Amino acid sequence: MTLSFADDDGTAIDLHLIDSADLDDWRGSRPDAEVRWLEAQGFRAGIGQALLVPGPDGAPALAVAGRGSAAQRARVRFPLAAAAQNLPAGTYRIAGGLPEDTAEAETLGWLLSNYRFDRYRGDDRAARALIAPRGIDVARVEAMAAAEALTRDLINTPASDMGPDALEAAAFALAERHGADFQSIVGDDLLTQNFPMIHAVGRAAAVPPRLIDMRWGGSGPRLTLVGKGVCFDTGGLNLKPGGSMGLMKKDMGGAANVLGLAQMIMALKLPVQLRVLIPAVENAVSGNAFRPQDILTSRKGLTVEINNTDAEGRLVLADALALADEESPDLIVSMATLTGAARVAVGPDLAPFYTDHDSDAAALATAAAGVADPVWRMPFHAPYEAMIEPGIADLDNAPSGGFAGSITAALFLRRFVEASPRYMHFDIYGWQPVAAPGRPKGGAGQGIRALLAALPGLLPAA
Ligand code: BES
Ligand code: ZN
Ligand code: ZN
Repeated sequence: MTLSFADDDGTAIDLHLIDSADLDDWRGSRPDAEVRWLEAQGFRAGIGQALLVPGPDGAPALAVAGRGSAAQRARVRFPLAAAAQNLPAGTYRIAGGLPEDTAEAETLGWLLSNYRFDRYRGDDRAARALIAPRGIDVARVEAMAAAEALTRDLINTPASDMGPDALEAAAFALAERHGADFQSIVGDDLLTQNFPMIHAVGRAAAVPPRLIDMRWGGSGPRLTLVGKGVCFDTGGLNLKPGGSMGLMKKDMGGAANVLGLAQMIMALKLPVQLRVLIPAVENAVSGNAFRPQDILTSRKGLTVEINNTDAEGRLVLADALALADEESPDLIVSMATLTGAARVAVGPDLAPFYTDHDSDAAALATAAAGVADPVWRMPFHAPYEAMIEPGIADLDNAPSGGFAGSITAALFLRRFVEASPRYMHFDIYGWQPVAAPGRPKGGAGQGIRALLAALPGLLPAA
């Protein structure tokens, strides 16, 4: 599996991209034999419809791929990936028809159409290789593809091979590749170093809980990413029903996404001081598991009544956010597969995010459009603060009633960020439930390309 652009070795096939509205005009400019061939094949330039066209000797002379209509394209995130996956293996060069303003997002989609999760069964499919069209930022598109692949691989790897220890190893490997500083606080050291909620959530698992802490970059504005690394979420003693537990290897999707973003930032050498914090735990069931109605004292000192041990993500994130906030970086971003409510609200495609700053929300939304990474703003609705206050402790981790579940979870997290000027939180799904062009069923990156593209506007000038 290669997710890079191809070198031009002279064998590439010219690929003509055709909007269905332009098909007649295009035919008018082509030789009769070609037009008859396309006609015989039923080529209507529908989205993803792709064909090789033979020359007089029978060898492919060119390829054509439909782009459909604007309305059809609006329904597909990566239209060019739809074409790529319908072409035979080979190397292609786009000979026309790709709009400049979508060229980076679309060629990213092409690269991603070659993604396979091959860890357990190999990949015998030959790639559809693409020569980078002129005008795109090749390094940036390749970095985005590599980050998406990393995120998908991490999420797709089951908990048997992606426990807290393996997630730490993956983060360490990334840190080593880019010369980042790396530290991890493991097991009972979480207690001595005052991360009681990370410890409480993770202590029942066979693999001890930990807090991963990575730093990179010597100068520039300070950005801290915090990712939920629940390597498997059984729900704890308030055990999830089987149907809900089935996908919970993906509950480290926030961690997988922040590692993907960190990889892009480091590969592209953005001028920032980056810190990545990942509480990596397994929410398991055992005699020493934390219980419903336990009251935990967090790192920050706020007490939390546990009303459901399945609302564990906000607990581990709270201690990591408190640590992040202690040095008041310019921006803290948390990413987490935090609530089922977010999935109900916006489904698997949109990355719901929270910020108190309209300008940041606008910057993110604008950036998102250019990188095929749709986001949707949700409100930190202060009147719901009362819902997370149980009376017996400072905070309730699982308000009864379940109203506005994603919002109350976000409000819970915001309580742990006080000193930092900017806080943005993503409540993502991290999973593609049905295959789409460039997006196989399985782990999925969400929001990180939008963040990468928006970062210059989200951070103060260096
Ligand atoms: N990891 C889940 C949230 C989740 C479930 C994300 C399904 C995506 C798909 C989280 O730890 C959880 O179980 N949250 C509970 C919270 C509730 C008990 C307050 C939820 O959302 O049901
Ligand atoms: Zn849970
Ligand atoms: Zn969870």
